[in-house]
Amino acid sequence: MFDQLDVLPADPLLGLITLYNNDTNPKKVDLGVGVYRDEHGHTAIMQAIQKAEKIHMDKEDSKTYLGPIGVAGFVNGIKSLVLGESSQAVASGRVAGLQTPGGCGALRIGAELLKRIKGEVTVWASDPTWANHIPLISSAGLEIKSYPYFDAETGGIKFDAMDAKLAELGPNDILLLHGCCHNPTGADLSYEQWQQIAKRAAEQGFIPFVDIAYQGLGDGLEEDVKGVRYLSEHVEEMVIATSCSKNFGLYRERTGTLLVQTKSAENAHAIQTHVQDAARANYSMPPAYGGFLVDTVLQDPALRKEWEDELNSMAERVKSLRAGLLEKIQARDIDKDFSFIVEQKGMFSFLGISKEQVRKMREDYSIYMADSSRINVAGLNTECLDYVADALEAVLK
Ligand code: LMR
Repeated sequence: MFDQLDVLPADPLLGLITLYNNDTNPKKVDLGVGVYRDEHGHTAIMQAIQKAEKIHMDKEDSKTYLGPIGVAGFVNGIKSLVLGESSQAVASGRVAGLQTPGGCGALRIGAELLKRIKGEVTVWASDPTWANHIPLISSAGLEIKSYPYFDAETGGIKFDAMDAKLAELGPNDILLLHGCCHNPTGADLSYEQWQQIAKRAAEQGFIPFVDIAYQGLGDGLEEDVKGVRYLSEHVEEMVIATSCSKNFGLYRERTGTLLVQTKSAENAHAIQTHVQDAARANYSMPPAYGGFLVDTVLQDPALRKEWEDELNSMAERVKSLRAGLLEKIQARDIDKDFSFIVEQKGMFSFLGISKEQVRKMREDYSIYMADSSRINVAGLNTECLDYVADALEAVLK
């Protein structure tokens, strides 16, 4: 039976990890997978998380099952973090939610929920979107199509074209949005654009499905969710997938949540049973550990402050790397305007160079990035900026 399947190519993004690890060039630079790194290329465990681990270890006296919801306190903490302490939707019990194995688990359970309810729906994703959105959503049996988004000329968004496409959507459509720090482009919607989307969703009846995996890594924890909160206040129903991989540095602990905002507490109760049922059918229960750690951090004012401060300094470091890279590029003989690098938000920028140029960066200079020319800005450091800018100058010649 097993002789019927051929070897698959490596995942385009995760495959870069192996390529990079096997590269012996001492100058190699890893701008591939979206992982925050410090100046020495290390992805440290955040200070507040280290402390929470000790607290949790002293406290935990059982490893018994928690059920498909995971750590309930964690789910409530994330509701407040994303939708705000004063969210009416949360206060009135209209938001169902459960812990999931990372943001991927949330996207998958969210997609299964939509499939159960609506059956024949189309999910609209930005062009481009995070590569894994497509298999995650389509493997739940939903059709996925794209709406115009990134403007390669300006490094921003083609909002007129996006809005024209949104004008065609109706109740059988789901609009997949990146809550902040768009992956892969770093091009984010403005507050006014979120308002326009909310207006259309409320009038036309399509459901927003927000994937938010980088809260706090753009302009700040509150600033980054202004658009999502506006949407939550102005549409009755929406789905949100969150991840603690980047902003709590819990990558391998697979810690996320799925939140579903509904019209009433009764609806939320019914949806809660469905998402738990979908979780049970997939993986039964999420790994609890990351949820306990985040819950500990969010509930302890001192730890929470320490976490926020560290997160802010990570975001600031990424911003200064953006400015540093742009400065180095501008000091070279490069006939392309890269000033969008400092406009884009979060960990990623789309360099807008060809696949062939990306290959040259990798093969000739050991600089690794996604084929799309997405770079993980957090993979840069002050030492390598000149080297990266030199390589860009050479491949763009
Ligand atoms: C990325 O986009 O690099 C990260 O979200 C990691 C992943 O799973 O693709």
